[in-house]
Amino acid sequence: YIILMIQNVLTVLEARLSSKRPKVAFSFGLSDAGRIGPFNTDITLKFTKVFTNFGQAYNPNTGIFTAPVRGVYYFRFSAMNSNVNGPLGVQVYLNGKRVSWNYGRDSNWYGRATNAFIFQLEKGDVVYLVLPVGYDIFDHNYNVTTFSGFLLFPV
Ligand SMILES: *[C@@H]1O[C@H](CO)[C@@H](O)[C@H](O)[C@H]1NC(C)=O
Repeated sequence: YIILMIQNVLTVLEARLSSKRPKVAFSFGLSDAGRIGPFNTDITLKFTKVFTNFGQAYNPNTGIFTAPVRGVYYFRFSAMNSNVNGPLGVQVYLNGKRVSWNYGRDSNWYGRATNAFIFQLEKGDVVYLVLPVGYDIFDHNYNVTTFSGFLLFPV
């Protein structure tokens, strides 16, 4: 009987905790457009193909993820290009400050780049990926270039 009571209390607590914990998880493909770039200025990459976007924290119109709550978040991307118009380049930005500069150049075939970060973010902090000037990136309906992230836990 006591065990049953404890189980009930745990179930109630669990439900309350999970309802307080915001659901934030996104996964997007870049586009079906093929090659993007190179451009003569840095551009924020807009991932437009939605696989999931719990909490709508990633905005495909701007390419910007905005943290809805203070917490610890995980982000990752993989990117590809065909090296026809230059090497692949992807930069990771946190609040207007570059955190990572990734590039890929294979001598005779595809360029690839991938990376992952865990950031502690304040509510309103922004994370986004940038295509640097002179570099290009590729995606088509095979979904080879993707950007994903989720809230690990609020703090
Ligand atoms: C890419 O994703 C879309 C949407 O889920 C899917 O319909 C399509 O089959 C995927 N492409 C491949 C090659 O798997």
